[in-house]
Amino acid sequence: MSGKRVSFFALGLIAATLLTLGFSEPPKKPTTTKDALDIAIDDERHAIAFYEAVMSKHGERRPFANIIHAERRHQAALLAQYERLELTPPPNRWADHQFDVPDTFAEACDAAIVAEIRNGRIYDDLLAATDDEQVRQVFQNLRDASVERHLRAFRRHGSGWTEVAKKELTDRQKQQKKIADNARHDMFGKLLAELMRTIQKEGTDGAVDVCAKRAPEIAQEAGKQHNVKIGRTSFRLRNQNNQPPVWAALLVDERVNEKRYLADDNGRLGVLTPIKLSSTCIQCHGDPNQMSPALKAKLKKHYPNDMATGFKINDLRGWFWVEVPGNEN
Ligand code: HEC
Repeated sequence: MSGKRVSFFALGLIAATLLTLGFSEPPKKPTTTKDALDIAIDDERHAIAFYEAVMSKHGERRPFANIIHAERRHQAALLAQYERLELTPPPNRWADHQFDVPDTFAEACDAAIVAEIRNGRIYDDLLAATDDEQVRQVFQNLRDASVERHLRAFRRHGSGWTEVAKKELTDRQKQQKKIADNARHDMFGKLLAELMRTIQKEGTDGAVDVCAKRAPEIAQEAGKQHNVKIGRTSFRLRNQNNQPPVWAALLVDERVNEKRYLADDNGRLGVLTPIKLSSTCIQCHGDPNQMSPALKAKLKKHYPNDMATGFKINDLRGWFWVEVPGNEN
């Protein structure tokens, strides 16, 4: 790699697009037809609002321009079922949501790919939750539209993120993997050292600030030093800013337990590495009843929507993600 290219990367021309679809947690398991309809309409409205936001940033372009019409028809088909069953639909919680739309059109398509795959998976659950034949027929049609048509259209315009098996990494990708591993090693080492030092000096509640303030800084420093994007994420987040990059989102949904590699059409490599919990970590991510009042208060103050407690030793807590840039830029 030439020195000139390295300096390009250092300017941060290639940013990781964090997933900004706005969900803080996956939908609850439905048990009634009404639950199932509520989840379905919420997801269709989410798609409409997100695709509108994309078009107001990137223009009324296909595939968004035509797929949004399909999503509006989906919403109407669901509303007709509410009416037939004399049920009241929930308010639209996405109408005024501020989406943080990705800067490039390709990455907006990547986010749409995640949304459509999640939509298909949601309908698989919903179909199991109702035996109303008409509702089932509507769900099946909407699911097929997402999985068969929308997904294909977005994939044609996306970045092309695809998984690569470890033994199929090219020589270049092996070099990128090495960069990713070094960056992660650095970040983890620094974070753990500061954490242990502060726990010893100031107690566990004093160390909350290390994770809150220093973790993002240490990630930034490691990213700059190795010319990568790097961070931590989870399926149960303490800090909502720790969303996964778009290429990792579906693997986070699947809670993959081993290291995974993804490459895109621009030569980027994404590496996702699971994080398991040790006894040190449990102090702040374990049973809240075991925490001191001071620690509980501090966590609550910084993170009113904390979902990252209740873990046990050796549990999967989340992942380090590293995105290594390609050479073309
Ligand atoms: C002193 C309390 C404390 C300890 C000990 C601790 N954490 Fe955390 N952890 C936090 C805080 C606070 C955050 C939120 C950081 C932020 O705002 O980015 C966090 C965030 C995380 C995240 C990022 C995802 C999210 O939920 O926002 C991961 C992953 C994580 N911790 C894993 C660990 C592991 C692994 C250990 C043990 C090596 C550990 N933590 C030990 C307090 C702690």
